[in-house]
Amino acid sequence: MSHWTKLSELHKATGNRTIADLLADPARAGDFTATAGDMYFDYSKTNITADIRETLLALARDTNVEDRRDAMFAGARINETEDRAVLHTALRNLDGGPVMVDGVDVMPGVHQTLADMRAFAEKVRDGAYTDVVNIGIGGSDLGPAMAVRALAPYHDGPRCHFVSNVDGADISDTLRVLDAKTTLVIVASKTFTTIETMTNARTARAWMLDHGGDPSTQFAALSTAEDKTTDFGINRVQVFGFEDWVGGRYSVWGPIGLSLMIAIGPKAFDAFLRGAQDMDSHFRSADLHENLPVLLALVGIWHNQICNHATRAVLPYDERLGLLPNYLQQLEMESNGKGVTRDGSDSPRNTGPVVWGAAGTNGQHAFYQLIHQGTRVIPCEFLLAAKGHEPDLAHHHQLLVANCLAQSQALMQGRSLDQARKIAADKGFTGEELEKQARHRVFTGNRPSTTLLYPELDPFTLGQIIALYEHRVFVEGVILDILSFDQWGVELGKELATALQPVIEGTEPTDGQDASTAALVNYIHRHG
Ligand code: F6P
Repeated sequence: MSHWTKLSELHKATGNRTIADLLADPARAGDFTATAGDMYFDYSKTNITADIRETLLALARDTNVEDRRDAMFAGARINETEDRAVLHTALRNLDGGPVMVDGVDVMPGVHQTLADMRAFAEKVRDGAYTDVVNIGIGGSDLGPAMAVRALAPYHDGPRCHFVSNVDGADISDTLRVLDAKTTLVIVASKTFTTIETMTNARTARAWMLDHGGDPSTQFAALSTAEDKTTDFGINRVQVFGFEDWVGGRYSVWGPIGLSLMIAIGPKAFDAFLRGAQDMDSHFRSADLHENLPVLLALVGIWHNQICNHATRAVLPYDERLGLLPNYLQQLEMESNGKGVTRDGSDSPRNTGPVVWGAAGTNGQHAFYQLIHQGTRVIPCEFLLAAKGHEPDLAHHHQLLVANCLAQSQALMQGRSLDQARKIAADKGFTGEELEKQARHRVFTGNRPSTTLLYPELDPFTLGQIIALYEHRVFVEGVILDILSFDQWGVELGKELATALQPVIEGTEPTDGQDASTAALVNYIHRHG
């Protein structure tokens, strides 16, 4: 029997046994948790038993997760459709040895780029700049934007802003309040061809010229395409390059993280890299059953591929991680939202889950109703710091913690009809009305969640968290036998947008477009 079949059998055998039943065993809380450094991962509030875990681990072993992991770290070209190595880990390998790609050690180049970034960041921090605008999209935006917000207590540099959307509202609202003479514009684009970024970059350059700034000194670029940055007119000394073995959504650790380095300073940025480096060592050396990225991936596989829970909510009880769900949407859905396996055949099972969420406690007042009482089960992933950054507001943090822990408890325990009847009776309801009121107050419970705890959201911890998720995505991809490091699914829309542009501009007719699109264009032309 394959591991997949066995897992399905084990799922069926779950029957009426609940998560609460499993937790009646006092040893479970210790047995179904794992640590990496100071991080604590609790997956005891899931329906995973020791048998299920063993089978999931066997699945990971037999799909060669360890060999594939070692191949990635060793610089093998595991991004097969683009024929590239996958070495974002080299960017944070501050204390490790050589990393070889095609027989060449890439580490001297990594250290040199970091040294150049540090020198530039210090110059910007010490200079007359009040603001930095990072123009990029996808991986050239989400990573630094998320991290800059996450590390707000460590900001001691100029203010950072992020412009990504080609919608003119984004750049217009951002630039309107800035002084062009004291603003640095960073154009972040791996390819330096992305239409949204290049359009915004040209608009920013025009704005700077119109408002007394000097783009020849106040623009920097982050890209693998250095020739294109020169064509754009960016001073060579303000261009920070990286190699094609850094995927866009894995690029915050190198030049794409420049805005973060400027915001928090090179020393704190080093701590951020060291946190990721720490998670890399854990991922490479911890036994699979204690390996956090592996465990997160296995819980994900259990919920998505076996239990058929198609979405997963990421719920940071940490306001500053408010952009983590958005960041993870790209990381997970662009990486593992694939339809074919490595050899190009149709995937026999569903691939990556839909990831969504928001910071707690705000989500509680928006979508938790559905999570608790809706008809679909949504596995929840809570993240929580033991300590906040506001010592004078410790009571806020205590409330935050209480809410986070209460949610996972409520999801698991639920509330029975009998309990609900009692509540309705206490409120004075009787007879049929009591019964009706009670039914609306029932929580089925038995809804799975995991909780990731960390001492405090500092640069080191943020590095650990991001690397943890990166590796989780990698492990899920290996188990699903899909290629996690390309993103062909974003191409078609880009091609069609380019083809439609002259039609929208009115220089080409709508003939040849499908009837729906032609009618939509006609409406835009009539009302635009
Ligand atoms: O959305 C597709 C994508 O290629 C992402 O993978 C990438 O992060 C983003 O576009 C931006 O690309 P670039 O950094 O080349 O502008």
